[in-house]
Amino acid sequence: MKLNAAFSLLSSLACALAVPAPRTAKHHVKPAYFVLAGDSTTALQNSGGGGWGAGFLNDTLRSPASGKNYGHNGRTTVSFRAGGDWGEVLDEVESHKNSNEVFVTIQFGHNDQKPAANISLAEYSANLAQFVTDVRTAGGQPILVTPLTRRAFSGNPPRIVENLADQRNATIAVAQSLHSRYVDLNLASTNYCNAIGPAASWVYNLNDTANDTTHLNDYGSVVFGRIVSDLMVEKYDDIKFWTKPNATLTYELDHGIPA
Ligand SMILES: *[C@@H]1O[C@H](CO)[C@@H](O)[C@H](O)[C@H]1NC(C)=O
Ligand SMILES: *[C@@H]1O[C@H](CO)[C@@H](O)[C@H](O)[C@H]1NC(C)=O
Ligand SMILES: *[C@@H]1O[C@H](CO)[C@@H](O)[C@H](O)[C@H]1NC(C)=O
Ligand SMILES: *[C@@H]1O[C@H](CO)[C@@H](O)[C@H](O)[C@H]1NC(C)=O
Ligand SMILES: *[C@@H]1O[C@H](CO)[C@@H](O)[C@H](O)[C@H]1NC(C)=O
Ligand SMILES: *[C@@H]1O[C@H](CO)[C@@H](O)[C@H](O)[C@H]1NC(C)=O
Repeated sequence: MKLNAAFSLLSSLACALAVPAPRTAKHHVKPAYFVLAGDSTTALQNSGGGGWGAGFLNDTLRSPASGKNYGHNGRTTVSFRAGGDWGEVLDEVESHKNSNEVFVTIQFGHNDQKPAANISLAEYSANLAQFVTDVRTAGGQPILVTPLTRRAFSGNPPRIVENLADQRNATIAVAQSLHSRYVDLNLASTNYCNAIGPAASWVYNLNDTANDTTHLNDYGSVVFGRIVSDLMVEKYDDIKFWTKPNATLTYELDHGIPA
């Protein structure tokens, strides 16, 4: 024991003397690159779809960090893989991993939960777990995201209908069991909408005339994209480094003030 300790002290001294401080280390930090996998609540604004992805990529990242949105309307954890989207996400990881620190956000649940999809909660969990494993194998870092609230209210005073609670819990359970990063967008978006109420929440709807409180317009994307960013910044310093703050918007989000 004594000899080992002495040897180890000597080797650390030798290292300290022989190895110069990595002065250029910061030049080797690879910029973050975000690949977004999910359904329409992640997707670009389009007819019948629109999520937080565009606002997140456009407004919250500090150059040269960037990313690409693979959110796809109507997709489930099954059809995202079967339809080829997941293959494209993994290709994107492969092609960026040498030059970037690649993060893959994974957010599903809105379509998986529809009875017609016939996907049990156990299958949903297993599919999320396989996504996590695939991203790691491809050389990226998965970030599970619990599903964005649908912004539907009920009761008096009006409160958000928490119709994605099972999917939220399952997503967190998968993240914890695989020691994966995750952010609880479901909780944060639910809390924010409860704080600002139905009228202020309505402003973020994709289509003013359709009674569609699920999809986001451009401004909704900016606001909920900031929520996703703030959740990551709170937990992960390496992501915070690649983030551009908006103190005004973050203050409003933190204090339940309509943005
Ligand atoms: C639903 O999925 C289960 C399990 O995969 C299968 O046994 C069943 O036939 C499916 N039901 C329908 C209506 O597709
Ligand atoms: C989700 O998990 C929390 C605590 O982990 C529990 O209190 C709650 O009942 C769960 N909800 C559902 C829908 O499973
Ligand atoms: C908005 O919703 C209305 C009513 O459902 C529909 O007629 C219209 O085509 C939608 N507009 C867009 C741009 O999707
Ligand atoms: C939208 O739909 C919900 C539930 O289907 C209903 O309670 C609400 O009154 C509708 N709102 C408008 C403005 O049509
Ligand atoms: C994000 O940027 C793209 C490309 O400039 C633009 O088409 C889109 O409208 C922007 N969306 C949001 C929500 O900022
Ligand atoms: C911060 O967010 C607010 C609210 O969305 C917006 O008006 C403002 O332009 C943003 N500031 C910056 C520097 O992007």
